[in-house]
Amino acid sequence: MEEIDFTDKVAIVTGASSGIGAATAIAFAGYRAKLTLVGRNEGRLMETSEKCAAKHNIAPLCLILDLTIDSNCEMVIKRTVEMYGRIDVLVNCAGKIILSSLHDKSMEAFDVVMNINFRVPFFLSQLALPHLTKSKGNIINMGSSLAKRFKPGLMPYIITKSALSLMAKHSAPELLSEGVRINTICPGTTRTNILSNLNMNDEVQRIVYDALAIDMPQGKIIDPKEVASFVCLVASDMFPNLNGAELLIDGAASLT
Ligand SMILES: NC(=O)c1ccc[n+]([C@@H]2O[C@H](COP(=O)([O-])OP(=O)(O)OC[C@H]3O[C@@H](n4cnc5c(N)ncnc54)[C@H](OP(=O)(O)O)[C@@H]3O)[C@@H](O)[C@H]2O)c1
Repeated sequence: MEEIDFTDKVAIVTGASSGIGAATAIAFAGYRAKLTLVGRNEGRLMETSEKCAAKHNIAPLCLILDLTIDSNCEMVIKRTVEMYGRIDVLVNCAGKIILSSLHDKSMEAFDVVMNINFRVPFFLSQLALPHLTKSKGNIINMGSSLAKRFKPGLMPYIITKSALSLMAKHSAPELLSEGVRINTICPGTTRTNILSNLNMNDEVQRIVYDALAIDMPQGKIIDPKEVASFVCLVASDMFPNLNGAELLIDGAASLT
């Protein structure tokens, strides 16, 4: 099997300041990709950037932006093309989890989670498409294996993740003629900052992760590096027929 190699290829990774996005950026850097990293937390984004640069001495373009502002999504594509002249891979990883349900008294939580988890990937994909068409590139959405399960209090989050899978399924056939692939990767519970970003303190996080680990068939939470390696594999040229897929990487948790 040929080696993964992203030399002279350009990947945009959103959510690169933390968790799965940070691990994904570092994995791409290991395969010599030129990178645009997007996040809001400057300190954490710079940490990822340094780890990327340490791989093959290629400094990423770092954009500290809130992606829920449309002009910032436009900026991501514009600055990437200005810097590198092309886009080969878009990884839509930025996202958040919010507890919400039909019992909510307002649409606020729904709008927040729908915006960053689904509208932003949709808009960035629209904006990147002309460039991906030129490079015969591909889009990877970060879905979730929770899209296959019932979890109380997470219905709107789960809908956003199901929507990403449907976006890939329904746009892949349309994009065939342009030579652009689109897939959704659906991890199970992965150890990241997603719970601390939900304002859980360390002690509560430990309790929640211990409870979530019991729910994983092997009793273990997934290391973000495993998801990151899988993203690089799917984004590479190794599997030109891998398209429109919803790819579970959850230790079969969604089947138990
Ligand atoms: N952890 C899991 O168990 C798990 C499982 C399945 C799927 N996922 C999905 O994986 C993706 C990454 O999650 P994670 O677990 O790695 O969480 P995380 O550690 O909390 O990282 C979330 C990332 O999204 C970025 N982000 C959030 N809102 C943003 C905004 N408005 N503008 C720009 N960037 C924004 C954050 O940037 P800042 O921190 O800089 O604001 C951060 O880089 C999410 O889509 C999540 O739904 C996670």
